[in-house]
Amino acid sequence: MPVTAEPLTDEATGTFRIGDGPTVRRLGFGSMRLTGPGIWGEPEDPDECRRVLRRAVELGVNLIDTADAYGPEVSERLIAEALYPYPDDLVIATKGGLTRTGPGQWPPDGRPEHLREACEGSLRRLKLERIELYQLHRVDPKVPFEVSLGTLIELRDEGKIAHIGLSNVSVAQLEQGLAMTEIVTVQNRYNLSDRASEDVLDACTERGIGFIPWFPLATGSLAQPGGPLDEVARAHDATPAQIALAWLLARSPIMLPIPGTSKVAHLEENIAAAQVRLDDDEVRALAQAVRA
Ligand SMILES: NC(=O)c1ccc[n+]([C@@H]2O[C@H](COP(=O)([O-])OP(=O)(O)OC[C@H]3O[C@@H](n4cnc5c(N)ncnc54)[C@H](OP(=O)(O)O)[C@@H]3O)[C@@H](O)[C@H]2O)c1
Repeated sequence: MPVTAEPLTDEATGTFRIGDGPTVRRLGFGSMRLTGPGIWGEPEDPDECRRVLRRAVELGVNLIDTADAYGPEVSERLIAEALYPYPDDLVIATKGGLTRTGPGQWPPDGRPEHLREACEGSLRRLKLERIELYQLHRVDPKVPFEVSLGTLIELRDEGKIAHIGLSNVSVAQLEQGLAMTEIVTVQNRYNLSDRASEDVLDACTERGIGFIPWFPLATGSLAQPGGPLDEVARAHDATPAQIALAWLLARSPIMLPIPGTSKVAHLEENIAAAQVRLDDDEVRALAQAVRA
């Protein structure tokens, strides 16, 4: 019987505490794909996207990742449309620091005035008084990092955000950030076939900082049958996508995967990955079989 979706439990996923705030289950949902091609404009099927969000919460997801830049504005708006008023335990993590000029274009803007405006816009669209986890989407090379991060610290002091996360950073940038303030999560690209951020993951594991691996399924390519995950998938009666996610969950206790999809069927498949237990040998063998 293939592994099918059951509501997530704390035991199945393990949990992670967002700083001094809420505790979330380690398998979350990424909402970037609830948009049009090039992460631009409306999705092809907005009703299915709202169903995906509701089903995610029904299945016990209590960490949803988004950003003002997804659409732009579309992903955050859909989250509010589908889920507001929110369940008490739901953490919506959003981001600021990128602007949009067209499909697939993401110029950074880490200036204080932009970050403030971005945060206010997210608060309005998400209908929140305070954003539990606000992430700097990318360091803007034209703005000193400490100026951008300094703005997030001010927003936290003002009560508009509760906790600060970074995204797309190096170990050196993480350390620079930690010297200024508490950083609760780092969100970098990481999956079985792309482990360029291994050093950042290790730094997060050592310090107990949450690591949110974006692109956990490598746009579905790790979900394809016929690849190096097949053998382990067969042994667990699971799908390759479930093995890719189970590998991430097993890789570190601070790993918080947020697989994204615009389809309920894929969501259910991904959530069921929490029931797949890989042993240490399988975790090592998969890392060797898939050349990063
Ligand atoms: N911080 C950053 O710079 C950054 C950058 C990118 C993403 N992110 C975040 O990370 C999240 C996840 O990243 P991602 O969306 O790029 O990558 P992903 O989750 O690895 O892949 C999503 C893609 O895989 C497909 N997919 C999902 N589940 C599947 C399944 N079970 N079988 C087959 N195909 C499946 C989806 O298509 P369907 O819709 O057809 O299912 C979608 O195209 C995003 O939603 C976003 O929140 C952050």
